[in-house]
Amino acid sequence: MNEASPAWVSVLPDEDYQHSFGLKAGGAERFFAPTERHADLLAQRRHWLRTDTAHCAALLPGAEPLLEETITLARSFGAPVSDAASSSIVAKHAGSETGAPMETANAFARCLALGEAWEPDYLLLKQDAADGRFHLLGGCVCFPSSWRFEEKVGKPLEVIHTPVPHLNEQLASPIHNFLSRIKPGAAWCRANWGLSRSPELNQHPARGLPKLRPPLREDEVWLRVEDQALVALPESRGVLFGIRMNVLPLAEVKRHPTAARGLARALRTMPDAMLEYKSLLSAKEELLRLLESE
Ligand code: HEM
Repeated sequence: MNEASPAWVSVLPDEDYQHSFGLKAGGAERFFAPTERHADLLAQRRHWLRTDTAHCAALLPGAEPLLEETITLARSFGAPVSDAASSSIVAKHAGSETGAPMETANAFARCLALGEAWEPDYLLLKQDAADGRFHLLGGCVCFPSSWRFEEKVGKPLEVIHTPVPHLNEQLASPIHNFLSRIKPGAAWCRANWGLSRSPELNQHPARGLPKLRPPLREDEVWLRVEDQALVALPESRGVLFGIRMNVLPLAEVKRHPTAARGLARALRTMPDAMLEYKSLLSAKEELLRLLESE
C-alpha cells in the first residue's frame, strides 16, 4: 500500500479469503472521536433510536455498571452525554407502557443518550458468572449489516457468531481468550467488510433493502467497511465493542487497484457457504465482471 491509500484499503489485502482475528492496538479516544460526518451521523442515529428503538437499543439487567463506566469514558473523550436523562424518554420506557420500574427506564434513557452522542454503534459484553462465556448485555446499534441486534441481546458471543460459517470452529477460543485477558487503556481494532446494493447505513433486515442479484450496474454496488474496537471496562469488568460503518461506492474501490484486486481475490477464494452468508453467492460472477471491467 502506498502512502496515499486510505485506511479502508487494508481490509482487502491481496490474499485468499480467510476469517481473520487481526486485532491491532489503537487509540480508544481516536476511534470514538467526532469526524467531519458528525452532524449527519448523529441525525441518522437520533432518527433510528427514536423511531425504531426496539431494533436499535437494549439494556439488560446487570448492564448498568458497564453503561455507567462507558459514559464516564465517553465524557473523558469529550462526548456531551447529558446527566439528566430526557424526561419524555424516561416516561416512555417506564410505568404503564412497558411495566418497567423508573430506575430501569432511567438507565435505558442514558443508554439511548449515549447512542445519540457517539458516532459509532456500541455494544456491552460481560463474562457470565455461571457459564464463563461473554454475553451481550446491551448497547445501541443503528447501522447493522443485515443482522438483528434485538435477537442477539442476552446471548453468548459463540451463539451470536453461529450464522457465520466456520467462525466458531476457527476462532471461538482465540476470541474468548482474548476477551478474558484484554487490558484497559488501548482499543483493540479490527475490521470486517461486506457488499450491498444499498448505501444506507442502517441495513436492519426488517427494512427489506434490495439484495445483490444480477443483473447489476456498477453504481448499484457499495462496499461496507466495518471498523471495530474492543475496549476493556476495568471497574465493571465488562468489554465495550464499538462499530464504525463506512460505505464506499464500487467506483471508489476501483480507483484503488490494490483494493479492487484484493476484493476480486476474496470473492474468488471465499467458500460458497461464506458467500451465501454474505448474500454474495448469486452475484459473485457479476461482481467480478464489474470489478474487473474498465
Ligand atoms: C474479537 C474478535 C472478533 C472476531 C475475529 C469476529 C469476527 C467476525 C466475523 C468474521 C464475522 C462475519 C462478518 C462478515 O464477514 O460479514 C462476524 C460477524 C458478527 N460478529 Fe463478530 N467478531 C469478533 C468479535 C465480536 C464481538 C465482541 C461481537 C459483539 C457482540 C461480535 C458480533 C458479531 C455479529 C453480531 C456478527 C453478525 C452475525 C450475523 O450475521 O448474524 N463480534 N464476526
